[in-house]
Amino acid sequence: MVRGVIFDLDGVLVTTDEFHYLSWKQVADAEGIYFDREINHRLRGVSRMISLEIVLERSPRQYTDAEKQTLAERKNEIYRNLLNRLGPGDALPGALPLIHDLRHAGVRIAIGSSSKNTRYIIERLQIGHLLDAVVDGNDIRHSKPDPEVFLTAAARLGLPPADCVVVEDAEAGLEAARRAGMRVVALGPAVRGLAADLWAENLAAVDCRRLLELPARGDRA
Ligand code: BG6
Ligand code: MG
Repeated sequence: MVRGVIFDLDGVLVTTDEFHYLSWKQVADAEGIYFDREINHRLRGVSRMISLEIVLERSPRQYTDAEKQTLAERKNEIYRNLLNRLGPGDALPGALPLIHDLRHAGVRIAIGSSSKNTRYIIERLQIGHLLDAVVDGNDIRHSKPDPEVFLTAAARLGLPPADCVVVEDAEAGLEAARRAGMRVVALGPAVRGLAADLWAENLAAVDCRRLLELPARGDRA
């Protein structure tokens, strides 16, 4: 039975994955470090500092901890400026209809994100009233692929992991969901072909009934 759905935020409910990409691109270009969308896929779902380490893999020189801190802050400043463009109505196509259908079916809704900007984005989109729990980068010690964010979300929903489905656009997120013992819907090109209970191009292509009927982990042939 599916009693809770835990949505990733960036790239699932809102197109902030593109803002993350543009911000890192600006930082990398200024440092003379090669960065492209393929590398950016590896940043999906992981924390800001781990993202920075991945960006710096292509750098010919070493950065001190203080320099890394400065780069991470610069990236976040650029990112926050992009977030200011967001408003109600900027949830990705299909996101709000699916959440409404799920709520109508009595399913509890959470967000499980590695981002420390999660609450600001929820505020900009004005979707807080649709959520029963929010767990973000400020609440956890280990970011995806560690299952902590999803296990905490399930606990806050008052549900066992086996009753929850995760919706994710990141490889790290798929692994986190699996390790949490949850079923997972994979969204978008970065996770096409990876192990998941269901794959869809975007949320507009996810049917509420189909999601609710996903077989429990132990029930699959
Ligand atoms: C995740 C994104 O949701 O949040 C990652 O997919 C990002 O790309 C991470 O690095 C941390 O985000 P923030 O907003 O705390 O820098
Ligand atoms: Mg994501």
